[in-house]
Amino acid sequence: MAMGKNVLTMSNATQLIHSIPVDPLTGAISVPIYQTSTFVQEAPGKNQGYDYARTGNPTRTVLEDVIAKLEHGQTGIAFSSGLAAIDAVVKLLETGDEILAVDDIYGGAFRLFTQVYHKFGIRVNFVDTTSAEKVFDAITPKTKLIWIETPTNPTLKISDIEAIAKIAKANRCILCVDNTFASPALQQPLSLGADIVVHSATKYLGGHSDLIAGIVVTKDKEYGAKIKFLQNACGAILSPFDSWLVLRGIETLHLRVRQHCESALAVAQFLQNHPAVDKVYYPGLKTHPGHDIAAKQSTGFGGVVSFSLKEDNSEAATAFVTATKLFRLAESLGGIKSLLCLPSQMTHKTIPESKRRAAGVVDSLIRLSVGLEETKDLIEDLQNAFTISQIRSTTARRTEIITTAP
Ligand SMILES: Cc1ncc(COP(=O)(O)O)c(C=O)c1O
Repeated sequence: MAMGKNVLTMSNATQLIHSIPVDPLTGAISVPIYQTSTFVQEAPGKNQGYDYARTGNPTRTVLEDVIAKLEHGQTGIAFSSGLAAIDAVVKLLETGDEILAVDDIYGGAFRLFTQVYHKFGIRVNFVDTTSAEKVFDAITPKTKLIWIETPTNPTLKISDIEAIAKIAKANRCILCVDNTFASPALQQPLSLGADIVVHSATKYLGGHSDLIAGIVVTKDKEYGAKIKFLQNACGAILSPFDSWLVLRGIETLHLRVRQHCESALAVAQFLQNHPAVDKVYYPGLKTHPGHDIAAKQSTGFGGVVSFSLKEDNSEAATAFVTATKLFRLAESLGGIKSLLCLPSQMTHKTIPESKRRAAGVVDSLIRLSVGLEETKDLIEDLQNAFTISQIRSTTARRTEIITTAP
């Protein structure tokens, strides 16, 4: 028998699992947690690749290398939160520069751009980036950074990464994509022409609602070196234990995301047929205006579904979000347990009302993070919540009419 080289053609999930290395020192199958602040040096400057744990830590390095590979980038940099990761990217700019950002932006990014960087002379122009033409028209000579989320949080708007990357390139702007909602299991913006990807690793990468973490991945080494400099200079690093937790989450990312997508589609279809529901936002529905672009640039549509009620007020929405049993009322998404939230009162409270409504975040908009429970149980939970909240709402209205009668 001929002794050929053993060549494996690996699928994504296999590559992902085996991109997390076995510890070269001991053979440990799980990445060791280097819980240390400093590293002993043989002579000044003579060390084994690490000197101080803010600058670099071996556990964090494994995570940074793995996520760079998953996102098809050159450099990964891990931060103590998604917002710290976003903050590092904005620090690439100078006073006088402008950001062109998606109008349905995550509330925390909106607050950072408008309330922190505004005072340092960095202006933001919010644009409906679902239209590449609108992006083109909104660019000014001062625009240095284009910021998109696709899908957005919470109305799941889709922007065409490839088309916007061409506009960015033609105008010498950096294109940064917040890839939190899709995760690299579904979408790799750097392969579509983006320069930088950021993540709230708190969500799908971590996947278990047990940590806060952020990631930046750059397509080229130059931006990578700049962000790494900022990571060390500003100090918002991810701890060794949290780096390990994110790595542990990444090991099952493909499997989890596959199930999140399957259940989310079933939930979206259920909501579409419910008489109390006004609009359903899920890019996997053929009726979603961004469906074709989402299908072109990603391999799935994610685990988040949003919907608004025909009775569009926060009382009706509050009655619903407090009536579910499996979907727990909490901010965040991407974990094993299903969550739901009311963005107008929670995640998007910092966005001015008129801007919020204009971006589709109406008072009754409810965001679901569809978890990994059995799909039929989740749908039953939503069905029950509609029934309970309708009874509560009718009772409240009757009481109000009776007590206010002359
Ligand atoms: C799309 C998106 N980007 C960034 C963030 C910020 O991440 P973190 O909460 O980890 O700071 C969030 C948080 O909800 C988010 O939804």
